[in-house]
Amino acid sequence: MAAASTTTRTLLLFSPFRTSLASSSSSYSFHNFPKLPFSPFKTTTTSTYTYCCYHSSTQSQSLSSPPPRLNNNNNNVIEILQQRGLIESLTSPDLHDAAVSSSPLKVYCGFDPTAQSIHLGNLLGIIVLSWFHRLGHQPVALIGGATARVGDPSGKSLERPDLDLDSLRRNTLGIESTIARILSENSVILNNYDWWKEVKLLDFLKDVGKYARVGTMMAKESVKKRLESEQGMSYTEFTYQLLQGYDFLHLYKNEGVRVQIGGSDQWGNITAGTELIRKVLQVEKGAYGLTFPLLLKSDGTKFGKSEDGAIWLSPAMLSPYKFYQYFFSVPDSDVVRFLKMLTFLELEEIDELEREMGRVGYVPNTAQRRLAEEVTRFVHGEEGLMEAIKATKALRPGAETKLDWETIEGIAEDVPSCSLKYDQVVNVQLVELSVSAGLFESKSAARRLLKQGGLYLNNSRVDGEDKRIEAEDIVDGKVVLLSAGKKNKVLVRIS
Ligand SMILES: *[C@@H]1O[C@H](CO)[C@@H](O)[C@H](O)[C@H]1NC(C)=O
Ligand SMILES: *[C@@H]1O[C@H](CO)[C@@H](O)[C@H](O)[C@H]1NC(C)=O
Repeated sequence: MAAASTTTRTLLLFSPFRTSLASSSSSYSFHNFPKLPFSPFKTTTTSTYTYCCYHSSTQSQSLSSPPPRLNNNNNNVIEILQQRGLIESLTSPDLHDAAVSSSPLKVYCGFDPTAQSIHLGNLLGIIVLSWFHRLGHQPVALIGGATARVGDPSGKSLERPDLDLDSLRRNTLGIESTIARILSENSVILNNYDWWKEVKLLDFLKDVGKYARVGTMMAKESVKKRLESEQGMSYTEFTYQLLQGYDFLHLYKNEGVRVQIGGSDQWGNITAGTELIRKVLQVEKGAYGLTFPLLLKSDGTKFGKSEDGAIWLSPAMLSPYKFYQYFFSVPDSDVVRFLKMLTFLELEEIDELEREMGRVGYVPNTAQRRLAEEVTRFVHGEEGLMEAIKATKALRPGAETKLDWETIEGIAEDVPSCSLKYDQVVNVQLVELSVSAGLFESKSAARRLLKQGGLYLNNSRVDGEDKRIEAEDIVDGKVVLLSAGKKNKVLVRIS
């Protein structure tokens, strides 16, 4: 993903720190951000979040008074996102006020169905939508069934390969189910192909194209970069920002969607939308864009890629166990920032975790464990988290956890396996089996490790050199887990 350029940003960015008073030119640090005095907030507490109504008519006279401390009871989703490092730019500081006006905002984020699952790069979008939802707003997820056919999602310099319709359909289904699972049931999922399939070229040129300035479109950083590259850019991809811009217009008009969120590389597409709404509908205020920063590690590299590839959010493409492990291995230098951005823990609690990290006697990775637990629960649910924790324990040789079929299934895709017939396993010497299962090159190598206490059967260390596999050793009559030392494992399935 190409990050939005600094130039574009300084031109168009309104600092979210600044007040919404047009006359005020001073900036405020977050803690001094002028809040409304003596509660103009009517607060109704529901079971999960505090939902508030704020009457804009009281706003002008109240802004000059000293701000009350509302820190623990903040109802403004924009301020919360700001505090957690989840805002890069806003198209207008007025969004601060819109977020606490009496009617909830409909907020959308787009997801391109270019793979069968969304990945960690898409998680921030879901988290930001989720924050809006927690504060009483209405999230909308938009699957880019139409846009996926034309644009380059990666910001790489190459044109996106064509997706055949079958893959597109499969991807859309996969992504929809993941989003529906993570976001609450009452969130809305739409597909932009539903309106694009009806649009005729001449109508598009008349209704949309006429309002788009080619100069503005070419000045967008992602376009400029592509134009400078050797391959250039096709007319089709150049149109991408208009398609996404029109999506916002469509959603604004037909669904009452007022805010679009996206990664910082989406700035150009998002402002194409707010501009179109302004020009076509003659609405000056009413549509807003919000971008969040890319998720980077402290060394500047992108967070979300492991050696084996992308960190998928679908359990069918990456087990909850591996997902959990990825977050567990985050370095200390990143863990606090990620806790703020990727979890819904109270900031006070995160601060406390951070202080603990500096104390003597801090158990290493406590913060990482918390991060891994919270994110895994958010993405895979309580069950997925349990599966991940069980597998983590099960994969630790010498662990006390009793293996059962379910736990083994949880780790199955992360451990090499082989299939052997019942009588190739039962009554066979462990040393021999570990060679036929491919764990060792030779029986002597197996025997050597066994003598050193490094050979395990179902996580229990085996001491007897002539241990033979018995029927009772086969977990649920289906599998045997062999381990050589801490890392090497083979799952033997009985066929
Ligand atoms: C629009 O989105 C596409 C797909 O994510 C991206 O490749 C492109 O750089 C974006 N363009 C602008 C102008 O933001
Ligand atoms: C797995 O093998 C070990 C070692 O022989 C045995 O003690 C254990 O009962 C077996 N586990 C199960 C669940 O059958």
